[in-house]
Amino acid sequence: MTSRTAPASPQSPASSDLSGLPMPLPDPAEVGRLYDRFTALGDASLGENLHFGYWDSPDSTVPLAEATDRLTDMMADRLRVGPGARVLDLGCGTGAPGVRTARRTGAHVTGVSVSAEQIRRAEALAEGAGLAGRMTFRQANALELPFPDGSFDAVLALESIIHMPDRGRVLAEAGRVLRPGGRIVLTDFLERAEIPAAGRPAVERYLRDFMMTMVSAEVYPPLLRAAGLWLEELLDISDHTLRQTFVLLSERIRKARAELTGRYGEEMVDQFDPGDLVGIEEFGYLLLVAAKPGR
Ligand SMILES: C[S@@+](CC[C@H](N)C(=O)[O-])C[C@H]1O[C@@H](n2cnc3c(N)ncnc32)[C@H](O)[C@@H]1O
Repeated sequence: MTSRTAPASPQSPASSDLSGLPMPLPDPAEVGRLYDRFTALGDASLGENLHFGYWDSPDSTVPLAEATDRLTDMMADRLRVGPGARVLDLGCGTGAPGVRTARRTGAHVTGVSVSAEQIRRAEALAEGAGLAGRMTFRQANALELPFPDGSFDAVLALESIIHMPDRGRVLAEAGRVLRPGGRIVLTDFLERAEIPAAGRPAVERYLRDFMMTMVSAEVYPPLLRAAGLWLEELLDISDHTLRQTFVLLSERIRKARAELTGRYGEEMVDQFDPGDLVGIEEFGYLLLVAAKPGR
């Protein structure tokens, strides 16, 4: 994988400003091609939900699919929207969280992704769910949103900002398209403490292979202030999300290894197996809610 860099600006911290890890900054076009490839291959990863699960306790036996829906619901509820509201799903994947959010809230959901393949699949999912009238999808870059100011009541960014090279610009764009009083709810990878030397190769490999970066929690308050947004909630939900997701995903991949290798090749199966990340407690996951002041 080649190294990617983007110019630094006040809203665009260099990757070394985000956390203690030196990480290449993702390029949206390359991220789009990565998801086109994975999406065309089918559900090698988490199925329709391309995000982590949420479990109430470490010994919960709730299956992965249910736990990923649970995280979607926690975020959808924090949007505080109802029937008729307009929700922007920023980094919509193949549409599953958007469909669930549309059903749960009654809102109209517009999904954007940099992957054309995901947009095709999301449209088919919405059609199949009978929600085509309340859902629209569009290939677009979150850093340059093709929507007018104030056109949404809420923004959902479920595990997508991890792939975006400039969190400040994403938040500014979200703030621009939100109406006064609107909210953004997002999840992000969190560096809870410095990743110990023994865990660094695994974390760096994972972030590099999937074109992602992580942040320390202090990054957010100044970025939100610069974007004109108020911080309402910042939760470290690592203990409810990462470990169980990594364990269950790794188990699933190892059980089906022979079949998956035949379909996708050994290199890709190794890339998908997050077994080497289990137990790196400094690698965390945050949930954040912010609001645009006004009514
Ligand atoms: C880990 S997936 C999460 C997908 C979906 N939110 C879910 O939870 O199933 C990350 C998503 O972010 C999208 N994404 C990454 N960078 C983007 C960008 N710059 N603009 C728009 N979407 C982006 C990807 O195409 C992908 O759909």
